[in-house]
Amino acid sequence: MAFHVLISDPLSEEGIQPLRDAENIEVTVNTNLTAESLAEKIGDYDALLVRSQTQVTREIIMKAKKLKIIGRAGVGVDNIDLDAATEQGIIVVNAPDGNTNSAAEHTIAMLMSLARNIPQAYYALKHKQWERKKYVGVELKNKTLGIVGLGRIGAEVAARAKGQRMNIMAYDPFLTEEKAEKMGIGYGTLPEVLQAADFITVHTPLLKETRHLINRDAFQKMKTGVQIINCARGGIIDEEALYEAIREGKVAGAALDVFEEEPARDHKLLELPEVIATPHLGASTVEAQENVAIDVSRDVVQFLNGGLAKNP
Ligand code: NAD
Ligand code: MLT
Repeated sequence: MAFHVLISDPLSEEGIQPLRDAENIEVTVNTNLTAESLAEKIGDYDALLVRSQTQVTREIIMKAKKLKIIGRAGVGVDNIDLDAATEQGIIVVNAPDGNTNSAAEHTIAMLMSLARNIPQAYYALKHKQWERKKYVGVELKNKTLGIVGLGRIGAEVAARAKGQRMNIMAYDPFLTEEKAEKMGIGYGTLPEVLQAADFITVHTPLLKETRHLINRDAFQKMKTGVQIINCARGGIIDEEALYEAIREGKVAGAALDVFEEEPARDHKLLELPEVIATPHLGASTVEAQENVAIDVSRDVVQFLNGGLAKNP
């Protein structure tokens, strides 16, 4: 009997080779499905593979009568209704490690771009403006980087920022003073980190507890002139509060890779000159996309053939 696997977001062709190689698996790639057409078709499939674009809602899951497994080629599973999947006995697997390096590198690129106004200066020069005074930046050396969420990506960012001679201070409910000391970084509560930092970068998952973790109250605690980076998930930072904090001069700049609603083409934050942004590119490298697609593809092949999934 052949299993039918649907891939509904663009995934690396090399990465999905384990699925193509499996004799008992038929792969369909359809990356142009609307929510309605996915709901119509999902009943034919045993497995669904997605990145972050496809919203695997309760409505879709309820129509997925044959579905056994959902594979998320990446870390965040916030685009999948986990409660609905659990109720229907559908296992959800992700690829937690494959894009860590890419996301950490992107965060450092955003940090450096923010400090030196590189995107703004580039844009001005492309429009024939030679603006040396306007784009004076700040050094990273001896500045404090506050990291909220010291998991896989947060820890990699810390290691790299140390290379820029920054002081690191982190908050994570699972971080202890002892562990922080071993890593050569400072440890603080969330308010302590917010108060001490010149730059703040968030690396938590998007959960009920972390939605708007960085809100009006949090901005009040920060230094005037702080700069903020979000390469984790839209929604961890309250976008309305960030907008106000920039307009009031509390926040001097923000670098955003992610937004509460994506695609975020007309977002009002993008109108502010203090905001630099990329369209959710943290994991968009050849290497990361191959890694995550391989990891979920292998898990799906193994699971459909009666084995255990590695990353449930
Ligand atoms: P991870 O699970 O390894 O780390 C998350 C950390 O956040 C954990 O250490 C956890 O203890 C901590 N945390 C949880 N609740 C917290 C709270 N209330 N306050 C502070 N810390 C808290 O995850 P990761 O692989 O490091 O990924 C981090 C984030 O980056 C996720 O949101 C993920 O979806 C996102 N991500 C984005 C991209 C991108 O393309 N921009 C790429 C990869 C990952
Ligand atoms: C992730 O959570 O892994 C990221 O959002 C990366 C992505 O899916 O593009």
